[in-house]
Amino acid sequence: MLTFDIVTIFPRMFDGPLSEGVVARAIQRGVVGVRIHDLRDHTTDRHRVVDDVPFGGGPGMVLKPEPLFRAVDAIRAERGEPSAIVPTSPDGRRFSHADAERISRLGHVVILCGRYEGVDERVRLHLATEEISIGDYVLSGGELPAMVIVDAVARIVPGVVGDDQSVAGDTFARGLLDFAQYTRPAEFRGMTVPPVLLSGHHAEIERWRRREALQRTLDRRPDLLEDPAALDAGDRALLEELLERREKGAQ
Ligand code: 6GU
Repeated sequence: MLTFDIVTIFPRMFDGPLSEGVVARAIQRGVVGVRIHDLRDHTTDRHRVVDDVPFGGGPGMVLKPEPLFRAVDAIRAERGEPSAIVPTSPDGRRFSHADAERISRLGHVVILCGRYEGVDERVRLHLATEEISIGDYVLSGGELPAMVIVDAVARIVPGVVGDDQSVAGDTFARGLLDFAQYTRPAEFRGMTVPPVLLSGHHAEIERWRRREALQRTLDRRPDLLEDPAALDAGDRALLEELLERREKGAQ
């Protein structure tokens, strides 16, 4: 069982994402546990203040250290030392599928949702074990990133998504973008499906899909092809072909 303790000033933001779809099913099945903690419950003043002005001046507010440390102390008292304590922040290391896989093997993860212009540096230095960003853009807070992390991790915990083959075939598990998918009808408003998919020739279909995935990755995410683990010998031959064709096309 993998448990997430999520500390936030907006606990209700989690209601929807935790009650629908794959994450809800993982929780129902008891494979993943998610507990939401209101940061304000760990303040000691009458107004339940969680932020303050930055020392040295400047715009915006900074999350105070005491409520965050106290929240983690309460979590520790209840269920022991967590495997990871992770503030979300646009300054963190960028979250990848490899991180999701690593986190899925941990037992107990605390996510501290950042807010406002930042979090007191002492949280990063003396409380965090790592810091995660979900991409190169700025969000107003760490709640959506926390949900992103829980979703990406929950769906790769064995038994959560019905078909383990499907998870193993995921784009970033394989290192290539996905091939194009079609379903019925075979013709819709004059738009047709590639005939090979209707042919019933499984070997040919496999080959077409692999070529399609390579072509798409080459067009949209050539950086992924730099990972040698993404390609086997057959892929490299196919890729050579695609590159040659592209060169000829350019002439
Ligand atoms: Cl983790 N937090 C915020 N506030 N913005 C982000 C982010 C995190 N990741 C990308 N942008």
